[in-house]
This record gives sequence, C-alpha cells and structure tokens, in this order.
Amino acid sequence: MTGAAFRHFLDLGDAGGDAVAAMLNDAIDRKAARAGLPKGAPDADAPLKGRVLALVFEKNSTRTRVSFDIAMRQLGGSVLLLDSASSQLGRGETVADTARVLSRMVDGIMLRTDDHAKIAEMACHASVPVINGLTDQSHPCQIVADLLTVIEHGKALPGLEVAWFGDGNNVLHSILEAAGLFKFNVRVATPAGYEPDRAFVDGARAGGANVTLTQDAGEAARGADVIVTDTWISMGQADAAEKRAAMAPYRVDAALMALAKPNAIFLHCLPAHVGDEVSAEVFEGPQSVVFDEAENRIHAQKSVLLWAFGQLGG
Ligand code: CP
Ligand code: NVA
Repeated sequence: MTGAAFRHFLDLGDAGGDAVAAMLNDAIDRKAARAGLPKGAPDADAPLKGRVLALVFEKNSTRTRVSFDIAMRQLGGSVLLLDSASSQLGRGETVADTARVLSRMVDGIMLRTDDHAKIAEMACHASVPVINGLTDQSHPCQIVADLLTVIEHGKALPGLEVAWFGDGNNVLHSILEAAGLFKFNVRVATPAGYEPDRAFVDGARAGGANVTLTQDAGEAARGADVIVTDTWISMGQADAAEKRAAMAPYRVDAALMALAKPNAIFLHCLPAHVGDEVSAEVFEGPQSVVFDEAENRIHAQKSVLLWAFGQLGG
C-alpha cells in the first residue's frame, strides 16, 4: 500500500478505545448490511478491492486463517498463505527481511507467531499494515470478536462483569486490555503460579477496570455476566500432568455456571477441549454462544482490516 495512511494492529491498548469502538460499530453495520449474501460474495462497497493480505502462520490455525480469508473476500480483496514449514522463515530468514520483501509484494501482513517481539519486529520493518493474529502474549483480533458477541447478546460493555477460569494466557491478556479501554470488570480465577502477567492487570486497573485475582472459582463466577475460559495448554506449551492437575478445579461446569447471572453467556475462543476446561453440558448448553463468537471472527476481522488500511476512523 503506498501513499495512504495505515496503522498496525498489534494490541488493543495501542489501537485505543475509540478505534476498537469504531471497529465494533462498523462490524455491526456491515454484518447487518450483508445479511443473506453467500459468504464469499463481496460487500456492496468492496472497500479493499485489489488489496492482497499475506497470512503468515508460525502456529496452527483454523478460525484465524479462514476468517481473514473470508473477510478479505467480503471486502473485495484476496489473501495468500505462508507458513513457516514451507517458507524461508522456517529456514531462518529474518523477520526483518521477510517484512521488507512482503511489503514490496502485498498490501498487508497478518502474522501468527510465538514471541511477541517478532510481531513488533515485523511492524518495525514493514511499510504495510501488520496485524497480530496471535502471539504467546496476546490475541487482540479474538477479543474484538468477543466484544461484538457480548454486545449482540444484549450486554453493555461498561460495568460488565467478566469471569475468567484456568490459565492466565494470551487471550486473557487481551481481555484485560479491553477491560481497561471499556471499563468492564474482570474476575480472574487461576491456580497459584498461572496468573496473567502483572502488566496487563495493572494496565486494566489504570484504565478504570476492577480486576480481581483469586484462586476461588466460585468467587469469580458469582454474579458474572460472561463466563470465559480457554485451553489449559496453549500452543507451544508443554502438556504437563502437573499443570492439568492444577487446572482441574477451574473447569467450567454446570455448578459453576449456576453461580453466574441467569442470563450469563459462555465464551470460548476455540479450539475447545471438552471435558478439560469446560464440561460438555456447558459447552453444548443454552448459555454457550461459542459458535456465534467463532462466526464473529469474520465480522470483527473485516473492521480490524478497514481500520488498519486507514478506511475506518478512531
Ligand atoms: N480462536 C482462534 O484463534 O482459533 P484458531 O487457532 O483456529 O485460529
Ligand atoms: N490460548 C490459545 C488460544 C488459541 C486460539 C493458544 O495460544 O493456543
């Protein structure tokens, strides 16, 4: 992309509350405007016509890969896929050189990687927008979809009570960033030693969110509007019996759900490990909106893309 203003989307906190609010409004409008169209048909205005986005994966993905592909098609653009196994990244070509080469060939880059420093490095050397498709530290695209899902289910963000169970991981870090931007409250129930990084807790509190850290799952669930969990073992982590044992009391089951508000919803970014972090009864139950959440990755990613390409305010 030459000549036009663009922005990197590395984390929610960098983008800011106005930007994320603009993305949410745009996602709601675009989703409604294209109701009934086949999934691959472009939106009427096809605002990214002619643009190509490189999807670079150093980790597995289903939702992020498919949602960015379909999002670009709906916006009138296209994608190409690179993974570390079949690209020179996997043979040691630097992120800096990859960024400079891709910037000459495509209009934007989405990167899913391990070390968060790599996404910052990509952004530093790219002359096109770079989007964080998940790192070990954060997963901001997921949380735009989650906020959209919460709003669609009739809940206002300010003052919302969100309860997290299990591992203090990348997804939780982005929830905490969103909490600081939109002033909702997060009760985090983890075993000792698996708390989120302190910087994300402090950041949310500095933004005006109440953040409670507890080892008592019941305390976190009581009166919550949103119950959320994620895999106990994230990509790249050792699948240790010790960690699984520590996580077991934080499984979201019917007894835990019953402590939340009667109209509480259950979120999970997926992929789920039913029987581990969530019981089958909750996952398949009436409060679970996980497939709305998955579909919303498309609508959220479209707004992230428009913002990154300088076509959305905020
Ligand atoms: N939630 C999510 O990012 O899913 P994928 O790992 O399948 O992309
Ligand atoms: N915390 C998970 C999220 C997967 C979408 C992981 O990093 O593997």
